[in-house]
Amino acid sequence: MLDLLGIADTRPGADGFKPDVPNAANYDEARAGGMPQLPALLRFADGTPVTTAKDWARRRREIVALFDREIYGRVPATAPAIHWRLDRQERAIEGDKPVVKYWLTGIADNRAWPAAKAEIALRYTLPAAARRPVPVILSFGFPEGFRFPGPPRAPDPGPPYTEQLLARGFGYAVLVANSIQTDNGGALDNGVIGISLRGKRRGPEDWGVLRAWAWGASRALDALTKDRAIDASRIGIEGLSRYGKAALVTMAYDPRFAIGFIGSSGAGGAALYRRDFGERIGNLAAGGEYHWFAGNFLKYAGPLTPADLPIDSHMLIALAAPRPIFIGAGTVETGDGWVDPRGSFLAAVAASPAWVLLGRQGLTTDGFPPVLTGLTDGKVAFRQHQGGHNNRDNWPVFIDYAAMQLSSKLH
Ligand code: GCU
Repeated sequence: MLDLLGIADTRPGADGFKPDVPNAANYDEARAGGMPQLPALLRFADGTPVTTAKDWARRRREIVALFDREIYGRVPATAPAIHWRLDRQERAIEGDKPVVKYWLTGIADNRAWPAAKAEIALRYTLPAAARRPVPVILSFGFPEGFRFPGPPRAPDPGPPYTEQLLARGFGYAVLVANSIQTDNGGALDNGVIGISLRGKRRGPEDWGVLRAWAWGASRALDALTKDRAIDASRIGIEGLSRYGKAALVTMAYDPRFAIGFIGSSGAGGAALYRRDFGERIGNLAAGGEYHWFAGNFLKYAGPLTPADLPIDSHMLIALAAPRPIFIGAGTVETGDGWVDPRGSFLAAVAASPAWVLLGRQGLTTDGFPPVLTGLTDGKVAFRQHQGGHNNRDNWPVFIDYAAMQLSSKLH
């Protein structure tokens, strides 16, 4: 890809482990760049202002085309059809609630390129006693029973988020991101991207893994909306970290998702590229992460810089308008500085005019809130918790927010 772009190499990223090296990650707000000068959200590419909802629909298309071309890549027409199969269905009790559980596999049609394949794993659980179609939160996650290597983690205090959702009348669903596309640059010839490439290498504008995961979430939504027990107008998307990035891309690209919970998504997600706090673009362009993006994105890690990007993350967040979106993170002190929590807040501030243009309130303030203070009165919500790099500590607040935001859609 570097050869294709005519680039010798990319700049090194920040070192998040060694505080004394010259490229140590910056965690000093005074050196982060504050609120940088950003590309205009509400101006067309030709400079004319965007002033009406109709204008926004057109501006939105311009912005999507830029994210396609420069950051996440475009879904090709050769993306495979997905055929969903119900593998198993079971009644159970979760918390103290009777539920019905479903396991599905989404088989990618690979007849055009059988050397690649994808079988997408999706599972979901609905309250069994519901008399009306229920809202569902879809999460990017892991195979059932998966746990990270190492000593077992202490159990969460309080009930798991899944039981919290059920208690409020929501169902929950988990989509195994890696079953859509493996999280590895060496595996782009397989999965849904591999099927679409049919043996060719990616071009600079072809989809990266984040776009593929988001596309997979849209295919999962196709499957969920076939179940009459689910309210198709109230399906949300959630993710943490790289899956938080994927959840944000999902919200941005697919207007059928009614709400988003974007956790610790950081660089390549909600955090502004034009700041220097925690992760840098050089990290995103390096061996472990470049595959998340379109090839073109590598240009901005050398010779270009983030200041050359025609877009920034505020414009990605704005693509969610007028729908509600909740952006969360831990704190720098509890170990979530890598994701630049303040940079995500500033992006949310800069995105909010899109909601105002559509007659809604975005973030309710542009002042960075104290830790544990949820800004949840507008369609753009923000909260920092004290649990480090997780979504666990924001789930209760997000669920309150989602219940409130989606209640107007209760039939
Ligand atoms: C790394 C990466 C982040 C990513 C995170 C994760 O820290 O640099 O961009 O969000 O992994 O997904 O856990």
